[in-house]
Amino acid sequence: MCGIVGYVGAQQPSSRPLDVVMEGLRRLEYRGYDSAGVAVVTGPGGELATAKKAGKLVNLVDELAAHPLPAATAAIGHTRWATHGAPNDVNAHPHVAGPIAVIHNGIVENFAVLKAELTAAGATFLSETDTEVAAHLLAREYADCHDLSTAMCAVARRLRGTFTLLAVHADVPDVVVGARHDSPLVVGIGVGETFLGSDVAAFIAHTREALELGQDQVVTITPDGATVTDFDGEPAAARRFTVDWDAAAAEKGGFASFMDKEIHDQPQAVTDTLLGRTDIAGHLVLDDLRIDESVLRSVDKIVVIACGTAAYAGHVAKYAIEHWCRIPVEVELAHEFRYRDPVVNERTLVVAISQSGETMDTLMAVRHAREQGAKVLAICNTHGSTIPRESDAVLYTHAGPEIAVASTKAFLAQITATYVLGLYLAQLRGNLFPDEITEIFDQLRAMPDKIQIVLDRSDEVRKTAQDMVDTTSVLFLGRHVGFPVALEGALKLKELAYIHAEGFAAGELKHGPIALIEEGQAAFVIVPSPRGRHSLHSKVISNIQEIRARGARTLVIAEDGDDAVAPFADVVFSVPRCPTLLAPLLTVVPLQIFACELATVRGLDVDQPRNLAKSVTVE
Ligand code: F6R
Repeated sequence: MCGIVGYVGAQQPSSRPLDVVMEGLRRLEYRGYDSAGVAVVTGPGGELATAKKAGKLVNLVDELAAHPLPAATAAIGHTRWATHGAPNDVNAHPHVAGPIAVIHNGIVENFAVLKAELTAAGATFLSETDTEVAAHLLAREYADCHDLSTAMCAVARRLRGTFTLLAVHADVPDVVVGARHDSPLVVGIGVGETFLGSDVAAFIAHTREALELGQDQVVTITPDGATVTDFDGEPAAARRFTVDWDAAAAEKGGFASFMDKEIHDQPQAVTDTLLGRTDIAGHLVLDDLRIDESVLRSVDKIVVIACGTAAYAGHVAKYAIEHWCRIPVEVELAHEFRYRDPVVNERTLVVAISQSGETMDTLMAVRHAREQGAKVLAICNTHGSTIPRESDAVLYTHAGPEIAVASTKAFLAQITATYVLGLYLAQLRGNLFPDEITEIFDQLRAMPDKIQIVLDRSDEVRKTAQDMVDTTSVLFLGRHVGFPVALEGALKLKELAYIHAEGFAAGELKHGPIALIEEGQAAFVIVPSPRGRHSLHSKVISNIQEIRARGARTLVIAEDGDDAVAPFADVVFSVPRCPTLLAPLLTVVPLQIFACELATVRGLDVDQPRNLAKSVTVE
């Protein structure tokens, strides 16, 4: 959801605060692109100036070129994903109350009560947003105490809901104050300058030294550093860390879009997620796991909670972990889990999968699971984010920054991490022999090269997508681990190309969905390997025949050398051979490329699809 940037610095030139904030907004635009705005304060003497525009950041850039802001000592900036109020100029942040400007990520749930109170006291509201109450409250509190940090603490204590707030005041031109409750905020520590951001991408071009704030904290930044307190103003601790990727990782690197780049980053994402997971004797070691081995041995159920693409990674994990560890695995959408009184206890391992580590639905489910006594292991791609911090343990994926709103490389990294977890549990609990674990791990290590082969073969997929530019509906069918791949293929097509798409378990077809098949209906089918004792290969071939007989155009993803599919396929996309359980790392790649290409030829912005935002930090 909304992206937030703040900056103070003693450095010259005085255009730097605005430059830094605009650069940060560019890197955070994936979090929301309904509008963008900035506020700067000049010193000494104190003047506050703002600019804001509906639409993408480029509109704000044009506005600033037409009407430049004065030189500044501090600046804050916001890129919005609208919750309260239409995405227009007036509702864009910052919101101003007298000498104060405020930006906000989250939802102030008690804004109606506060607005009534403030209106009765004489405040005039200009926008329809919940945020504006925070600006007016802050102005009133500041008028009483003349200290921006103290005033922010008082405001934070009154707000309900979720928020990251940043504020500047014309009287204190070298200070930015922030507060966070259930919404992300990290501090960047530079030399003679300090940064705030929704995530480290906001300031990665300037520093890799960062502070992870805890829940319910207020932070005051000056050019000399950051002071952190709780909402009562008592000193509080924040964890210092160094970001393990650099600014180049967050650039397109010659690709047409971040999505295209991130699809091509996937061999590296898988490689990096596997790095350092074995000791010299070849045993799996998970140093960052932090859960007692005896607890993991006694686990009698695993529940995976996640949303969207991350949940599909969980579905793949279910097949692998149940097969290797013989532990029942349930997979549940985080927003459903929390509200249905789930049966979890101290013998349940809850695995929360989240790229951003900030998804509110998943965070709430994590809290609920822990309240029931379950241990929670986070699989996460973002250091310094909330979900790993609130979990008992964390297994980081190392996909690097994922900027495109729709997830690709994080998905492959998440699947990889769940394989590592499954093998580790199998090792710990003795479900597999050491040789078997070594063999599977070696097969896993061979996957990045195979993913690269799929990428190298992408021309035919692209050509197919180009030919289907006018398609209005595509179905995706798969069985076993191919089923979550089908779901993910459909999701990618919906969100990138705005085309109706549905994923089905192929076996379910005859129970209803086959009624959808008519002449020319395009259907991707993910065909399992013909090798192996329990292969579903022949059953999926039958499914292909059933839909083809009814006029479907079949686009088949099959293993190299699978000659049996050819007679029933309009197009075959071949992927290298690999063990069945690992196949999603390959079979999903043509579907990602297909969605990306089809959206591109339809002239759509694949990095920032309409209505979406990365990091869904509201429930
Ligand atoms: C789809 C997509 C979303 C996310 C979901 C969870 O392409 O990106 O479905 O997977 O919003 O996000 P994280 O993993 O950040 O919790």
